[in-house]
Amino acid sequence: MALFGARTPLDLLRDYRKRLVTTVAPADQMVLRFDAATMARIGEKSWEDQYFRVGEAALRAVVRAMLLAEKTDLASILDLPCGHGRVLRTLRAAFPGARIAACDLDAGGVEFCARTFAAEPVHSAVDPAAIPLTGTFELIWCGSLLTHVDAARYAAFVRWFLDRLAPEGLLVFTSHGRWSLDYHRTYPYIAEDRFEAIVADVAATGFGYRDYPGQAEYGISIALPSWVARLVEGHRDATLLAYHERGWGHHQDVVVVWKKPIDVPPGLERPRPAIYRGHYDKFALAASAGSGTSER
Ligand SMILES: C[S@@+](CC[C@H](N)C(=O)[O-])C[C@H]1O[C@@H](n2cnc3c(N)ncnc32)[C@H](O)[C@@H]1O
Repeated sequence: MALFGARTPLDLLRDYRKRLVTTVAPADQMVLRFDAATMARIGEKSWEDQYFRVGEAALRAVVRAMLLAEKTDLASILDLPCGHGRVLRTLRAAFPGARIAACDLDAGGVEFCARTFAAEPVHSAVDPAAIPLTGTFELIWCGSLLTHVDAARYAAFVRWFLDRLAPEGLLVFTSHGRWSLDYHRTYPYIAEDRFEAIVADVAATGFGYRDYPGQAEYGISIALPSWVARLVEGHRDATLLAYHERGWGHHQDVVVVWKKPIDVPPGLERPRPAIYRGHYDKFALAASAGSGTSER
Protein backbone atom coordinates (compact mmCIF):
# COMPACT_ATOMS: atom_id res chain seq x y z
CA MET A 1 0.00 0.00 0.00
CA ALA A 2 1.52 3.30 -1.06
CA LEU A 3 1.86 6.04 1.57
CA PHE A 4 -1.24 8.30 1.77
CA GLY A 5 -2.50 6.69 -1.43
CA ALA A 6 0.31 8.35 -3.41
CA ARG A 7 1.60 6.23 -6.25
CA THR A 8 5.14 6.10 -7.53
CA PRO A 9 6.45 4.46 -10.70
CA LEU A 10 7.85 1.70 -8.48
CA ASP A 11 4.27 0.58 -7.75
CA LEU A 12 3.97 -0.33 -11.43
CA LEU A 13 6.43 -3.18 -10.94
CA ARG A 14 3.99 -4.88 -8.58
CA ASP A 15 0.72 -3.82 -10.20
CA TYR A 16 1.52 -4.69 -13.81
CA ARG A 17 1.50 -8.45 -13.11
CA LYS A 18 -2.24 -8.43 -12.43
CA ARG A 19 -2.85 -7.28 -16.00
CA LEU A 20 -0.07 -9.13 -17.82
CA VAL A 21 -1.26 -11.08 -20.88
CA THR A 22 0.86 -14.23 -21.03
CA THR A 23 -0.09 -15.53 -24.51
CA VAL A 24 3.16 -16.04 -26.47
CA ALA A 25 3.11 -16.20 -30.27
CA PRO A 26 4.49 -19.47 -31.71
CA ALA A 27 6.58 -17.40 -34.14
CA ASP A 28 8.21 -15.27 -31.40
CA GLN A 29 11.95 -15.27 -32.16
CA MET A 30 12.74 -14.24 -28.58
CA VAL A 31 11.67 -17.59 -27.14
CA LEU A 32 14.81 -19.60 -26.27
CA ARG A 33 14.74 -22.91 -28.09
CA PHE A 34 17.88 -24.55 -26.68
CA ASP A 35 18.45 -28.07 -25.42
CA ALA A 36 18.81 -28.68 -21.68
CA ALA A 37 22.63 -28.69 -21.76
CA THR A 38 22.78 -25.29 -23.46
CA MET A 39 20.19 -23.85 -21.09
CA ALA A 40 22.30 -25.05 -18.15
CA ARG A 41 25.47 -23.54 -19.66
CA ILE A 42 23.86 -20.12 -20.01
CA GLY A 43 22.26 -20.44 -16.57
CA GLU A 44 18.59 -20.48 -17.60
CA LYS A 45 15.85 -22.55 -15.91
CA SER A 46 13.26 -22.51 -18.70
CA TRP A 47 12.32 -20.41 -21.72
CA GLU A 48 9.31 -19.03 -19.83
CA ASP A 49 11.45 -17.90 -16.93
CA GLN A 50 13.91 -16.15 -19.25
CA TYR A 51 11.22 -14.64 -21.51
CA PHE A 52 9.09 -13.05 -18.81
CA ARG A 53 12.09 -11.99 -16.73
CA VAL A 54 13.60 -10.11 -19.69
CA GLY A 55 10.23 -8.49 -20.41
CA GLU A 56 9.99 -7.30 -16.83
CA ALA A 57 13.61 -6.14 -16.86
CA ALA A 58 12.69 -3.72 -19.66
CA LEU A 59 9.81 -2.35 -17.59
CA ARG A 60 12.25 -1.93 -14.69
CA ALA A 61 14.51 0.15 -16.93
CA VAL A 62 11.54 2.31 -17.96
CA VAL A 63 10.49 2.78 -14.33
CA ARG A 64 14.03 3.87 -13.39
CA ALA A 65 13.95 6.40 -16.25
CA MET A 66 10.57 7.71 -15.03
CA LEU A 67 11.97 8.17 -11.51
CA LEU A 68 14.91 10.18 -12.83
CA ALA A 69 12.59 12.37 -14.90
CA GLU A 70 10.05 12.58 -12.04
CA LYS A 71 7.23 11.24 -14.19
CA THR A 72 4.32 9.30 -12.71
CA ASP A 73 2.54 8.23 -15.88
CA LEU A 74 3.01 7.82 -19.63
CA ALA A 75 0.15 8.52 -22.04
CA SER A 76 1.84 7.55 -25.31
CA ILE A 77 4.48 4.92 -26.01
CA LEU A 78 6.34 3.67 -29.09
CA ASP A 79 7.92 0.22 -28.89
CA LEU A 80 10.34 -0.14 -31.82
CA PRO A 81 11.21 -2.94 -32.46
CA CYS A 82 8.24 -4.62 -30.78
CA GLY A 83 8.93 -8.15 -32.10
CA HIS A 84 6.06 -10.31 -30.83
CA GLY A 85 5.58 -8.21 -27.71
CA ARG A 86 8.00 -9.65 -25.17
CA VAL A 87 8.33 -6.13 -23.71
CA LEU A 88 5.23 -4.50 -25.14
CA ARG A 89 3.02 -6.78 -23.04
CA THR A 90 4.61 -5.38 -19.86
CA LEU A 91 4.15 -1.81 -21.08
CA ARG A 92 0.48 -2.47 -21.88
CA ALA A 93 -0.04 -4.02 -18.43
CA ALA A 94 1.72 -1.13 -16.65
CA PHE A 95 0.03 1.64 -18.68
CA PRO A 96 -3.43 0.26 -19.52
CA GLY A 97 -4.76 3.60 -20.78
CA ALA A 98 -1.79 4.59 -22.94
CA ARG A 99 -1.68 4.88 -26.72
CA ILE A 100 0.94 2.27 -27.64
CA ALA A 101 2.38 1.97 -31.14
CA ALA A 102 3.93 -1.39 -32.07
CA CYS A 103 6.52 -1.07 -34.84
CA ASP A 104 8.71 -3.75 -36.42
CA LEU A 105 9.86 -5.08 -39.79
CA ASP A 106 8.26 -8.39 -38.80
CA ALA A 107 4.67 -7.94 -40.00
CA GLY A 108 3.45 -10.98 -38.04
CA GLY A 109 4.89 -9.52 -34.84
CA VAL A 110 3.23 -6.14 -35.44
CA GLU A 111 -0.15 -7.73 -36.11
CA PHE A 112 0.16 -10.02 -33.08
CA CYS A 113 0.90 -7.02 -30.84
CA ALA A 114 -2.00 -5.06 -32.31
CA ARG A 115 -4.42 -7.95 -31.73
CA THR A 116 -3.18 -9.18 -28.37
CA PHE A 117 -2.11 -5.98 -26.59
CA ALA A 118 -4.39 -3.36 -28.16
CA ALA A 119 -1.49 -1.64 -29.88
CA GLU A 120 -1.50 0.57 -32.95
CA PRO A 121 0.26 -1.38 -35.75
CA VAL A 122 3.12 0.34 -37.61
CA HIS A 123 4.99 -1.58 -40.31
CA SER A 124 8.60 -0.47 -40.23
CA ALA A 125 11.31 0.07 -42.83
CA VAL A 126 15.04 -0.69 -42.74
CA ASP A 127 15.89 3.01 -43.00
CA PRO A 128 14.21 5.05 -40.23
CA ALA A 129 13.51 7.90 -42.66
CA ALA A 130 11.04 5.61 -44.46
CA ILE A 131 9.05 4.53 -41.38
CA PRO A 132 5.43 5.71 -41.74
CA LEU A 133 4.76 7.05 -38.28
CA THR A 134 3.00 10.22 -37.23
CA GLY A 135 2.69 11.95 -33.88
CA THR A 136 5.00 12.10 -30.90
CA PHE A 137 5.41 9.93 -27.81
CA GLU A 138 6.13 10.42 -24.13
CA LEU A 139 8.22 7.24 -24.13
CA ILE A 140 10.12 5.46 -26.86
CA TRP A 141 11.45 2.04 -25.87
CA CYS A 142 13.99 0.56 -28.27
CA GLY A 143 15.23 -2.81 -27.03
CA SER A 144 17.78 -4.77 -29.01
CA LEU A 145 17.76 -2.93 -32.33
CA LEU A 146 20.78 -0.63 -32.17
CA THR A 147 22.69 -3.75 -31.04
CA HIS A 148 22.26 -5.01 -34.63
CA VAL A 149 23.08 -2.03 -36.85
CA ASP A 150 26.17 -0.13 -38.01
CA ALA A 151 27.26 3.24 -36.66
CA ALA A 152 25.52 5.32 -39.34
CA ARG A 153 22.17 3.58 -38.82
CA TYR A 154 22.61 3.68 -35.02
CA ALA A 155 23.05 7.45 -35.21
CA ALA A 156 20.19 7.86 -37.70
CA PHE A 157 17.81 5.96 -35.41
CA VAL A 158 18.77 8.04 -32.35
CA ARG A 159 18.08 11.26 -34.29
CA TRP A 160 14.82 9.86 -35.68
CA PHE A 161 13.68 8.81 -32.18
CA LEU A 162 14.47 12.25 -30.75
CA ASP A 163 12.34 13.83 -33.48
CA ARG A 164 9.41 11.63 -32.41
CA LEU A 165 9.56 12.47 -28.70
CA ALA A 166 7.13 14.91 -27.10
CA PRO A 167 8.76 17.74 -25.11
CA GLU A 168 10.39 16.17 -22.03
CA GLY A 169 9.68 12.70 -23.44
CA LEU A 170 12.02 9.81 -22.68
CA LEU A 171 14.02 7.73 -25.13
CA VAL A 172 15.14 4.49 -23.49
CA PHE A 173 17.31 2.37 -25.77
CA THR A 174 19.65 -0.56 -25.32
CA SER A 175 23.18 -1.06 -26.58
CA HIS A 176 25.81 -3.79 -26.38
CA GLY A 177 28.48 -2.40 -24.07
CA ARG A 178 31.59 -3.51 -22.19
CA TRP A 179 29.95 -6.62 -20.78
CA SER A 180 29.10 -7.85 -24.27
CA LEU A 181 32.82 -8.10 -25.04
CA ASP A 182 32.96 -10.79 -22.31
CA TYR A 183 29.51 -12.30 -22.77
CA HIS A 184 30.34 -13.42 -26.29
CA ARG A 185 32.68 -16.01 -24.70
CA THR A 186 29.69 -17.74 -23.04
CA TYR A 187 27.02 -17.10 -25.63
CA PRO A 188 28.60 -16.29 -29.00
CA TYR A 189 26.78 -13.49 -30.79
CA ILE A 190 28.47 -14.05 -34.17
CA ALA A 191 31.23 -16.09 -35.85
CA GLU A 192 34.62 -15.68 -34.16
CA ASP A 193 36.46 -13.93 -37.03
CA ARG A 194 33.72 -11.29 -37.24
CA PHE A 195 33.70 -10.88 -33.47
CA GLU A 196 37.47 -10.31 -33.45
CA ALA A 197 37.04 -7.62 -36.11
CA ILE A 198 34.36 -5.94 -33.96
CA VAL A 199 36.65 -6.05 -30.92
CA ALA A 200 39.50 -4.46 -32.90
CA ASP A 201 37.21 -1.64 -34.07
CA VAL A 202 35.88 -1.08 -30.56
CA ALA A 203 39.48 -0.76 -29.31
CA ALA A 204 40.30 1.73 -32.07
CA THR A 205 37.13 3.86 -32.19
CA GLY A 206 34.77 2.83 -29.39
CA PHE A 207 32.36 1.18 -31.85
CA GLY A 208 32.44 -2.01 -33.88
CA TYR A 209 29.96 -3.71 -36.20
CA ARG A 210 29.86 -6.66 -38.59
CA ASP A 211 26.96 -8.16 -40.58
CA TYR A 212 25.68 -11.60 -39.64
CA PRO A 213 26.96 -14.07 -42.27
CA GLY A 214 24.65 -13.96 -45.27
CA GLN A 215 22.76 -10.86 -44.09
CA ALA A 216 23.30 -7.34 -45.31
CA GLU A 217 22.94 -4.37 -42.96
CA TYR A 218 22.01 -6.53 -39.97
CA GLY A 219 24.50 -8.02 -37.53
CA ILE A 220 26.16 -7.28 -34.20
CA SER A 221 27.32 -3.92 -32.89
CA ILE A 222 29.22 -3.13 -29.71
CA ALA A 223 29.68 0.44 -28.45
CA LEU A 224 31.60 1.78 -25.47
CA PRO A 225 29.61 4.09 -23.18
CA SER A 226 31.92 6.98 -24.18
CA TRP A 227 31.01 6.47 -27.87
CA VAL A 228 27.29 6.57 -27.04
CA ALA A 229 27.74 9.65 -24.83
CA ARG A 230 29.56 11.44 -27.66
CA LEU A 231 26.67 10.61 -29.98
CA VAL A 232 24.15 12.12 -27.56
CA GLU A 233 26.38 15.18 -27.08
CA GLY A 234 25.75 15.98 -30.74
CA HIS A 235 22.07 16.71 -30.02
CA ARG A 236 21.44 20.04 -28.33
CA ASP A 237 17.70 19.36 -27.99
CA ALA A 238 18.37 16.43 -25.67
CA THR A 239 19.87 15.67 -22.27
CA LEU A 240 21.68 12.45 -21.36
CA LEU A 241 19.74 11.34 -18.30
CA ALA A 242 21.38 7.98 -17.61
CA TYR A 243 23.83 5.43 -18.90
CA HIS A 244 23.26 2.18 -17.03
CA GLU A 245 25.77 -0.51 -17.91
CA ARG A 246 24.04 -3.93 -18.11
CA GLY A 247 20.81 -2.18 -17.13
CA TRP A 248 18.57 -4.51 -19.16
CA GLY A 249 18.54 -7.72 -17.14
CA HIS A 250 22.32 -7.54 -16.46
CA HIS A 251 23.05 -7.88 -20.17
CA GLN A 252 22.58 -4.95 -22.55
CA ASP A 253 23.35 -1.39 -21.47
CA VAL A 254 20.41 1.00 -21.08
CA VAL A 255 20.66 4.60 -22.26
CA VAL A 256 18.10 7.20 -21.26
CA VAL A 257 17.88 10.42 -23.26
CA TRP A 258 15.49 13.16 -22.28
CA LYS A 259 13.94 15.45 -24.89
CA LYS A 260 14.97 18.52 -22.98
CA PRO A 261 17.38 21.04 -24.51
CA ILE A 262 20.76 21.13 -22.83
CA ASP A 263 20.92 24.94 -22.74
CA VAL A 264 17.78 25.74 -20.72
CA PRO A 265 18.70 27.33 -17.36
CA PRO A 266 16.79 26.17 -14.29
CA GLY A 267 13.78 28.34 -13.61
CA LEU A 268 13.51 29.61 -17.17
CA GLU A 269 12.11 26.49 -18.73
CA ARG A 270 8.41 27.39 -18.83
CA PRO A 271 7.85 29.56 -20.68
CA ARG A 272 11.23 29.69 -22.35
CA PRO A 273 11.92 33.42 -22.76
CA ALA A 274 12.47 34.26 -26.38
CA ILE A 275 15.29 36.61 -25.43
CA TYR A 276 17.39 33.83 -23.88
CA ARG A 277 19.66 32.25 -26.43
CA GLY A 278 21.91 30.04 -24.29
CA HIS A 279 25.64 29.93 -23.69
CA TYR A 280 26.52 28.21 -26.93
CA ASP A 281 24.65 30.76 -28.97
CA LYS A 282 26.45 33.56 -27.10
CA PHE A 283 29.78 31.99 -27.98
CA ALA A 284 28.66 31.67 -31.57
CA LEU A 285 27.67 35.35 -31.58
CA ALA A 286 31.04 36.34 -30.12
CA ALA A 287 32.75 34.36 -32.85
CA SER A 288 30.67 36.06 -35.52
CA ALA A 289 31.03 39.59 -34.02
CA GLY A 290 31.05 42.13 -36.81
CA SER A 291 28.80 40.00 -38.98
CA GLY A 292 26.04 42.57 -38.52
CA THR A 293 23.76 40.57 -36.20
CA SER A 294 22.14 42.47 -33.35
CA GLU A 295 20.72 39.44 -31.51
CA ARG A 296 21.78 38.67 -27.94
C1 LIG B 1 16.38 -9.02 -31.19
S1 LIG B 1 14.77 -8.68 -31.76
C2 LIG B 1 14.09 -7.73 -30.40
C3 LIG B 1 12.58 -7.69 -30.39
C4 LIG B 1 11.95 -7.03 -29.17
N1 LIG B 1 12.46 -5.70 -28.92
C5 LIG B 1 12.16 -7.88 -27.93
O1 LIG B 1 12.96 -7.50 -27.07
O2 LIG B 1 11.53 -8.93 -27.83
C6 LIG B 1 15.11 -7.48 -33.01
C7 LIG B 1 13.90 -7.05 -33.79
O3 LIG B 1 14.27 -5.93 -34.56
C8 LIG B 1 13.46 -5.94 -35.71
N2 LIG B 1 14.02 -4.95 -36.66
C9 LIG B 1 15.18 -4.98 -37.32
N3 LIG B 1 15.34 -3.86 -38.08
C10 LIG B 1 14.25 -3.10 -37.85
C11 LIG B 1 13.80 -1.84 -38.33
N4 LIG B 1 14.52 -1.10 -39.20
N5 LIG B 1 12.62 -1.36 -37.90
C12 LIG B 1 11.88 -2.07 -37.01
N6 LIG B 1 12.23 -3.28 -36.55
C13 LIG B 1 13.41 -3.78 -36.95
C14 LIG B 1 13.47 -7.39 -36.13
O4 LIG B 1 12.42 -7.68 -37.02
C15 LIG B 1 13.32 -8.06 -34.76
O5 LIG B 1 11.97 -8.28 -34.45
